[in-house]
Amino acid sequence: MSVHSEIKKITTETLRKMKFDKEKITMLTAYDFTTAKMVDAGGVDAILVGDSASNVMAGYETTLPITLDHMIYHAQCVVRGVERALVVVDLPFGSYQSNPEKALESAVRIMKESEAHAIKLEGGKEVEESIRKIVNAGIPVMGHLGLTPQSIYQFGTYKVRAKEEEEAEKLISDAKLLEELGCFAVVLEKIPAALAATVTKSISIPTIGIGAGADCDGQVLVYHDMVGMNNGFSPKFLRRYLDLYTEITGAVSQYVKDVKTADFPNQKESY
Ligand code: KIV
Repeated sequence: MSVHSEIKKITTETLRKMKFDKEKITMLTAYDFTTAKMVDAGGVDAILVGDSASNVMAGYETTLPITLDHMIYHAQCVVRGVERALVVVDLPFGSYQSNPEKALESAVRIMKESEAHAIKLEGGKEVEESIRKIVNAGIPVMGHLGLTPQSIYQFGTYKVRAKEEEEAEKLISDAKLLEELGCFAVVLEKIPAALAATVTKSISIPTIGIGAGADCDGQVLVYHDMVGMNNGFSPKFLRRYLDLYTEITGAVSQYVKDVKTADFPNQKESY
């Protein structure tokens, strides 16, 4: 007899309905099995296997070096830990910008090899054909506008985007294009709250903000930032729910002390 889980899985359709019902959508990153399990158990609606793994997991300065194979590995680990949340995986830099066929191949590899539920990619008009091809293949696509970290060397800085009218207008028209192309949601990163509110009202698909104010349909944060593991990173938009850097380094130094003083292991901890 097969055992069917009672858990109601979150789908792209669930997120659309949440926007319609004005219920906020929650999203956090995860890159490994154990974290994904905790994040899912905590009740987030969606988990992003972000290319921020390049910074957070691998220690690179930007998101550019991470490869498609690395992203697939992280996605496989996360999928094994998740029962409820929608799992979205970033297409890494270089895996979709050059041509739409390559974009589709990369998206198909992620879906086939990781069993995740959707992919995310950065950009609007510039990646229109790639999005069209991926959506036509039946793969759900999440867009990403505003501060798109894969273009950091073009921007030159991680400052707030689209403060000027021209860039703000392009962002609004890109958001409408993403909706037309069939994206199921769009991340808005580090843009003025008023602009994010305008975009959110202008499109029927959910907007998920990071540093984009309170009027987005949902919010996303990098897990390692929100639990305070990255003690060197404190942008204004970040709310830290824990100070795990201090907790963990404290626990490690206590362990070091206990071993050095022969306090650990004691009799009860020995066979
Ligand atoms: O890679 C990532 O973590 C992201 C979020 C910042 C949205 O794209």
